[in-house]
Parts: sequence; structure tokens; C-alpha cells
Amino acid sequence: MGTGFILIGFMGAGKTTVGRCLSGKTGYPLLDTDCLIEEQAGMTVSRIFKDFGEEEFRRLETETVKSLLDRAGDWVLSVGGGLPLREENRELLRRAGKVIYLKARPGTVLDRLKGDTTRPLLRGGDVRERVESLMAFRGPVYESTAHMTVDTDGRSPEDISDEIVLLCSQA
Ligand code: S3P
Repeated sequence: MGTGFILIGFMGAGKTTVGRCLSGKTGYPLLDTDCLIEEQAGMTVSRIFKDFGEEEFRRLETETVKSLLDRAGDWVLSVGGGLPLREENRELLRRAGKVIYLKARPGTVLDRLKGDTTRPLLRGGDVRERVESLMAFRGPVYESTAHMTVDTDGRSPEDISDEIVLLCSQA
């Protein structure tokens, strides 16, 4: 297994914020699959969805994780919420490092994503309903992909990061 920290979970679960904090604590650089894809493609995730469709975005996600496996060194990786849905990706993630599921309730995610316009999957319609149904499907997938699960509801990124460092030092 690689030595990186890999953060998975739903949109708005705090992967990027916790990732930043964890990066500060460990000294490992923070990488983010959405950012890597945007840099490589020269366009935003929203644009990729709009112009090329979700399938193409998912293909780019797999390519990105594969390229990370070839990259030596330690990092904290924040992973797009839908990336673990592909079985191939789940295996790649588990090989790349310690996979940590940041778990959040729908209400927490809805609060954090209020006013957000960057998530194509949450645009239009009844957002609460969408979050609840996506989460019901994805929750078990995240659980089964992760080496460990950390609850994030009502907690600070600092507190969550401390727990991750502790859990990983014991694993
Ligand atoms: C997605 C999550 C987003 C981004 C894209 C699709 C998803 O990343 O990859 O909008 O399917 O859950 P975040 O989890 O960082 O919001």
C-alpha cells in the first residue's frame, strides 16, 4: 500500500478543507483529483460535464488516479465524490494509500453547499432529495472502499485531522 492519505466522501463532506489541515499537520502536499483534472483539461469540471458528459469526466478521474500511482512520494489526496463509484477506481485508491471516508449527514452537506454553483450533479430540482438519494446509494460504497471512517458532523477540520493522524498511526 502507498503511504498517502486519501480522503473520500460526498460532495461537501469537507475533503478539501480537512485535506488542507491534514497537509499542514503532516507536511505532505495536498492534491485534489478535480483540480488535477481541471489543470490537465484546461477547463472546469462543470464545463467538462456540459461539453463532454459525465462518462468522459469519469474516464478522466480513472486516468488521474492511475497517474498518481506512478508518482512516488507522500501526499494527501482529496478525491471527487463520485470517483469511488467505479470498481476499478476503488482498487486503485486502496493501493495508493490509506483511504479515509469522511462521513456526513445530508443536512451537514446541504448547509456546506448552500449557494454552490460548481457541482453539476446538484444543479436544479430538489437538491435535498438529490443529496439524500445519492447519499443512500453511495454511503455503502464509500464504507466498503475505505480503510477507516471518520464522522464529520459538527466537528472542526482540525479535530477531524487529529483523529485521522491518530487512527493512521495505530493502523
Ligand atoms: C462529484 C463530486 C465533485 C466533482 C464532480 C462530481 C460527484 O467533487 O468531482 O462535480 O459525483 O460527487 P467534490 O466531491 O469535491 O465536490
